[in-house]
Amino acid sequence: MKNPHIRVTVVDTDKRRIDAWKSDDLPVSEPGLDSIVHIARDGDEAAGRKPNLFFSDNVSSEIEAADLIFIAVNTPTKTTGAGAGCAADVAHVESAARCIAEASRTDKIIVEKSTVPCGTASILRTIFDVLAPGIKLDILSNPEFLAEGTAIRDLLNPDRVLLGSLEDDSSLAAVNALMDVYAAWVPRSRIITTNLWSSELAKLAANCMLAQRISSINSFSAICEATGANVDELAQAIGTDSRLGNKMLRPSVGFGGSCFKKDVLSLVYIAESLHLPEIAHYWRMVVTINEYQKQRVARRIIQQLNNTLLGKRIAILGFAYKKDTSDTRETAAISIILQLLAERAIISVYDPQVTAETVYDTLERQRAPYDGEVSVIRSNVKVCRDAVTACANASAVVILTEWDHFKTDRVYHLLADQKRSIFAEQGTETSGTCSPTSSKDSAVDVSDPARPSPTLLTAVESAKLERIDWVSIARVVRKPGLVFDGRGVVDSCVLRSLGLRVECIGKPSATTALQTT
Ligand code: UDX
Repeated sequence: MKNPHIRVTVVDTDKRRIDAWKSDDLPVSEPGLDSIVHIARDGDEAAGRKPNLFFSDNVSSEIEAADLIFIAVNTPTKTTGAGAGCAADVAHVESAARCIAEASRTDKIIVEKSTVPCGTASILRTIFDVLAPGIKLDILSNPEFLAEGTAIRDLLNPDRVLLGSLEDDSSLAAVNALMDVYAAWVPRSRIITTNLWSSELAKLAANCMLAQRISSINSFSAICEATGANVDELAQAIGTDSRLGNKMLRPSVGFGGSCFKKDVLSLVYIAESLHLPEIAHYWRMVVTINEYQKQRVARRIIQQLNNTLLGKRIAILGFAYKKDTSDTRETAAISIILQLLAERAIISVYDPQVTAETVYDTLERQRAPYDGEVSVIRSNVKVCRDAVTACANASAVVILTEWDHFKTDRVYHLLADQKRSIFAEQGTETSGTCSPTSSKDSAVDVSDPARPSPTLLTAVESAKLERIDWVSIARVVRKPGLVFDGRGVVDSCVLRSLGLRVECIGKPSATTALQTT
């Protein structure tokens, strides 16, 4: 996109995937991706831009035609053999390297883009030296730090670009060539060069430290719930220390996604292989706390429902591992739903982007902790097209993904728009001590001056805001109507004013708070 003079060809042995990339229906959904692919792939006549992005399953001939090759294959956790469940499986990296070595007739620069264990470049070196003797294949490490949902933004405006290499003249020339590609849009001051092994390790280290911060704040969420402290206030107090910063401090039901757990466990395996058991133990605890958090959340829901879920319906709002994606890999929803099913609950799931088939596939693939049959998952989990249907007759509504869609900042507009007077009906208007503008316990700032006043909002504008209809949800849930907010999405005062009982991650339970006052 930023280097229209460079011809880029994406190759894959999977022809169906390549065909999808050539079509109008791209196989990956990411905000902003479509327009970039369309401009680079199809060109822009009006702007005088010719196509420079191509897709092909003719792997060998495209390898030979290339001057620079990125290896961007996946490195999942090994499932069998030595290191199973922990070590990163570099089989795809190895086979890509063999392909490159066998197809190359001219010198090239080979770039590790995949997240790999520290030392992987030496595996590539051996393969190249044995299979492509006499051909100069310089190896660079250039890990990718983008996050799903913000991938294009992260790529266009990266905090840094990391380039690792050996220090011989040929490798340094290769670094300069790759630096020129990035310099088309990234200021050179943000392009960091390091040795090859530092660069490989830096990607793992960054992901591990990000995951560690989430496990740290989640460990505090447990202490807050037991003591009366408020985890949002704690995160604010910690995050304003400029040495710590305020990112990755949102308490949650546990981190998910394809990277954090895999990369922490890969680091654990590396430390074990290096005979550093204390280091391995230290990092393993990041994953242990994450698993503990998911169990803790499920236990708290079960306790709130009097330790019996038999035949009770529980609505799950959000199944994706984070907002703005349909990705469900390692989502905390898996473990939490399976624990609730084990208590014989009936589950209704609503997620604005995850399809029913994905929900079932994801749960069925990981059902080990639940001793039921696959068919029990299908019969006891219902996937709904909207939140109100999912919440109908639910004894608890559990928020597991931080979709903006679930926020409560439009509840008063909804009330006005629907011309309902739920306060009068339920007699709750004066029962609480909080008003829509007095709440301090939510990620939602209801006093936001940018928020339009209810009276100015038309029905059409209201519909465009696309928030779920909490007013109707309050009417259809089974009384007393418990909402468990595992992501700090809702304003609990607003929901309490609708007659709901609200429990939040990192805040003491409403019942405990009553007992202690
Ligand atoms: C992560 C890294 O951020 C990225 O740099 C790397 O290249 C790939 O792995 P990603 O997994 O896409 O990216 O998402 P991220 O936004 O980091 O969130 C990961 C998980 O942590 C999600 O489940 C998210 O909900 C959770 N999370 C994130 C929290 O629980 N609290 C937070 O404060 C931030």
